[in-house]
Amino acid sequence: MSVMYIQGGVPLEGEWQVQGAKNSVLPILAGCLLTREPVAIANCPRLSDVEAAVDILHHLGARCTWEGDTLVVDAAGACGTSIDEGRMRAMRSSIIFLGPLAARMGEATLTYPGGCELGPRPIDLHLAALREMGCRVEEADGLITCMGKPRGGVVSLAFPSVGATENAMLCAVGARGDTTIVNAAREPEIVQLQEFLNLLGGKVWGAGGSVITIQGGHQLHGGHISILGDRIVAATLLSGVAAAGGEVQVQGVDWRHLSTVLQLFEQAGCRVRSGTRSIWFRRRRDTPMRAAPPIRTAPYPGFPTDAQAPVMAAFATARGTTIFQETIFSRRFGHVPGLRAMGADISLHGGGAWVRGVSGLHGAQVTATDLRGGGALAVAALSAQGETQLSGLEHIDRGYERLEEMFGRLGAQIQRR
Ligand code: UD1
Repeated sequence: MSVMYIQGGVPLEGEWQVQGAKNSVLPILAGCLLTREPVAIANCPRLSDVEAAVDILHHLGARCTWEGDTLVVDAAGACGTSIDEGRMRAMRSSIIFLGPLAARMGEATLTYPGGCELGPRPIDLHLAALREMGCRVEEADGLITCMGKPRGGVVSLAFPSVGATENAMLCAVGARGDTTIVNAAREPEIVQLQEFLNLLGGKVWGAGGSVITIQGGHQLHGGHISILGDRIVAATLLSGVAAAGGEVQVQGVDWRHLSTVLQLFEQAGCRVRSGTRSIWFRRRRDTPMRAAPPIRTAPYPGFPTDAQAPVMAAFATARGTTIFQETIFSRRFGHVPGLRAMGADISLHGGGAWVRGVSGLHGAQVTATDLRGGGALAVAALSAQGETQLSGLEHIDRGYERLEEMFGRLGAQIQRR
């Protein structure tokens, strides 16, 4: 098992082009099952979650080939209808194949997905959505079976779940009738999924708002899409600069997708200038950050739960106390023990973390227990005195494409061995 060795205390300087968004490419990969023509996905990040999705596509009979940073998926020969437990458990997003399988094959047998490190992650909203579109969905002996071609309907989500919204959109495009999704999630990745489906000849409106309308039954063709920049990777990079100090230009990300994070760092004393597809960011080395007003994670356009951990790591050395209230996942503080081992003063009460800023962190041996928590430990290590040995890199590799190269190019002393 490799380990990341990070010597902290070096300011970050320079420019970095952000990778394509994991959360955008995963539903798009599942959506490739909806067409028998090839789809080219440019700016596709090389992540273990992407490999897991490619493995599922191969297993179902699709062909996937890399051409540089473009992944070409040809699902003409896809005929599989079931996904085994090993593949389902490889990542949480495996459940996103349910909707496209139901739409294309009229049947699907899956097990429950993996990825439970943030607390219970039920899929009831996914299953209810498919039922509302006319599929017969049953759960027995650890298997989920879905029978019957979807006919469309009204999907009213009890919570704006990202995955359930995407599953419903993917299923509805292949349904015989029309579908309306009410209380849909509004994340930028959902807007890109709509763009993708329309590019292939689907008829989808309203993504970005709370009501999405899908006219089902149009034959989809092939196409070419470029994956949008990953706002959470950008938030992690900026957290690194906020923690270690320095000045960077982040390219390839839309600042509007990150406005709550940028606003927070500005309140804490960082300087931000946003361009069309770039963000200039500075935290002076001689000016520590100030604590910020309480942060409460919320569905988009609220403060992203995925940014909570890396941003918290930056506030570990801010002057004063910053409170992080986690409302989306009940156990999303897996990074706190590692931050404490590096000298952070953090106490947990219910769904909240009280971060009392300390004058500095020190290196330690720490282990990532989830993806964004791993990003947070790397951020903390960048500002810590001495060496941090970060293990559990398999979590980090699910969503960060060469994290050590990103920070290393900006001057950090960071190596994977
Ligand atoms: C997606 C993102 C993940 C992000 C999360 C919230 C992808 C691949 N992953 O995950 O990075 O942290 O959105 O922004 O896009 N819930 C239910 N029943 C369901 C589904 C969800 O109760 O059927 C609950 C979850 O337990 C959680 C909340 O709804 O408390 C939000 O989950 P959801 O929006 O579905 O997150 P994911 O799609 O899993």
